[in-house]
Amino acid sequence: MKTAIIYATKHGCTDKCAQTLANELDINTKLFNLESDKKIDLNSYDTIIVGGSIHAGTLNKKVKSFIDKNQNSLAEKKLGLFLCCMYEGDKALEQFQDVFPETLRIKAHAHGIFGGELNFEKMNFLEKAIIKKIANIENSVSNINYSNIKSFAKKMTE
Ligand SMILES: Cc1cc2nc3c(=O)[nH]c(=O)nc-3n(C[C@H](O)[C@H](O)[C@H](O)COP(=O)(O)O)c2cc1C
Repeated sequence: MKTAIIYATKHGCTDKCAQTLANELDINTKLFNLESDKKIDLNSYDTIIVGGSIHAGTLNKKVKSFIDKNQNSLAEKKLGLFLCCMYEGDKALEQFQDVFPETLRIKAHAHGIFGGELNFEKMNFLEKAIIKKIANIENSVSNINYSNIKSFAKKMTE
């Protein structure tokens, strides 16, 4: 069974999570970063996992546009959906529901909320200002939930 993990990242966190997930899955797993991989032949994969991050309440634009264009094909696959974000608990769940279409959420074999990272070295001036104001922090933090990635991988193989 061939698996594709399709994602995009702004500051590298979703990339890190996608790579960690790929290592948890079997060797027939291929990673596609939507920033550089423009053509993906979805017909070659039985299992597709789509992931992205949240910035100011919205899903990464490239991931959103990929989902919008391929919603019908994705609904026919064994599908997994994951999100990288800093909010946890109900707020994270609410964001997950807001950004992934209901038709795909219902169809998906696994839902994952993998946590997030705030990487000040990669943020621009405006992003730094927003994060300082909203989160009241000035140093990078990593809050990736590796155990959620493991459980997601396990669920996808069931
Ligand atoms: C400017 C900015 C806005 C953000 N807005 C949100 C948000 O609305 N909700 C949330 O849960 N996380 C938010 N985050 C946290 C990101 O989701 C987190 O940094 C994530 O790991 C980014 O993943 P990426 O580097 O793969 O894009 C924000 C981060 C930045 C820098």
